[in-house]
Amino acid sequence: MHLKILVTAGDGIGPEVTNEAVAVLNEIAQAGGHTFEFDHRRIGGVAIVQDGTPLPADTLAAALDSDAVLLGAVGGNEFNSLAPDKRPEAGLLQIRSALGGFANLRPAFAFKELAVNSPLRPEIIDGADILFVRELLGGLYFGKPREWDKTTGRAFNTMVYTRDEVARVARIAFDLARGRRKKLTSVDKANVLEVSQLWRATVIEVAAEFPDVALDHQYVDAMAMHLMNRPKDFDVVLTENLFGDILSDESGVITGSLGMLPSATIGGKVNLYEPVHGSAPDIAGKGLANPLGAIMTAALILRHSGGLEAEAAAIEAAVRKVLEQGFRTPDLLRGNKEGLTVLSTTEMGAKVRETVKVQLLAPSR
Ligand code: NAD
Ligand code: IPM
Ligand code: MN
Repeated sequence: MHLKILVTAGDGIGPEVTNEAVAVLNEIAQAGGHTFEFDHRRIGGVAIVQDGTPLPADTLAAALDSDAVLLGAVGGNEFNSLAPDKRPEAGLLQIRSALGGFANLRPAFAFKELAVNSPLRPEIIDGADILFVRELLGGLYFGKPREWDKTTGRAFNTMVYTRDEVARVARIAFDLARGRRKKLTSVDKANVLEVSQLWRATVIEVAAEFPDVALDHQYVDAMAMHLMNRPKDFDVVLTENLFGDILSDESGVITGSLGMLPSATIGGKVNLYEPVHGSAPDIAGKGLANPLGAIMTAALILRHSGGLEAEAAAIEAAVRKVLEQGFRTPDLLRGNKEGLTVLSTTEMGAKVRETVKVQLLAPSR
């Protein structure tokens, strides 16, 4: 297998975690005779500083010319006073839009070893395994008109969806549910918003094509609570853009850390892969970042862009093994540290690489 992968590491801990993801992919390539060709380009704050724009033309061209894009994270406190269209985050939204992927898959599963790390009781989260399907190209993020009128002191954004935009992401979610526990929860705010009423009606229409999948609906406020109370009851969770952004970070409480969440965006010209977390300016440059979300994101590249299921599973099994052996980055510590070994970002990456080699030779789980 040959894959051309564009790496846009971005800001803060972005470069730290993507380095480890790339190193794991290199390990897989060596072991299996695959060639992964990496190109590196700027995005976000680093591009604003060096190129004067959060998404330079060469980055976009290289992205469109690749088989997969691996993004670290963008954003930094020094850009917080810029208008939304000038900020690092605008570069991310532009690349998402240009690549065209509208279905952002955000799996969140509880690792037994990290149960103690969650503020939720182990019996609540043990075995939780949720796949968020977040619509990524619509809603408030891209809706027009949008404006902050500083003279009148009035600002607005537009939450807009078309029936087709809802139907296409719903089909992907139902299809994924078929390969899992055949259960789909659609999240909306249909008790208040017309957009959500369209969302719910469209999801119900699409459901007719998938009679084998059980569908239920939750309002987003209640869903935020159910996720913490009974996460095991959910399998595929389909949401619009903003609701998915919020609920997927919340699911970091189930997995034990935001640093454990990977994502893959499919359905467009080129798939985009990014961990769910941001640039974490509070810990950037200190070797404290958890690279496992980015490393599991690399596994999603192999699964969704390379068709390399065994290799993807080997990475995920290696992550599990490393946790079983008691290795932790600082975000994965809470309370009792006995029997645990604290590793830096690069040490954790090295540990996963060591373990993935063994997994490839003798796969387990
Ligand atoms: P954040 O996700 O960067 O950090 C939230 C908290 O989680 C912080 O305490 C951070 O230290 C911790 N954390 C996050 N990832 C971690 C990891 N891998 N290992 C250990 N701890 C980790 O969110 P924020 O602080 O709200 O945002 C910071 C910047 O990142 C903002 O500019 C925001 O817009 C941006 N952001 C970017 C992306 C992206 O590029 N995909 C995603 C989310 C936020
Ligand atoms: C995410 C991030 C982004 C989003 C921001 C940085 C634009 O929070 O990927 O979850 O809101 O989509
Ligand atoms: Mn987010």
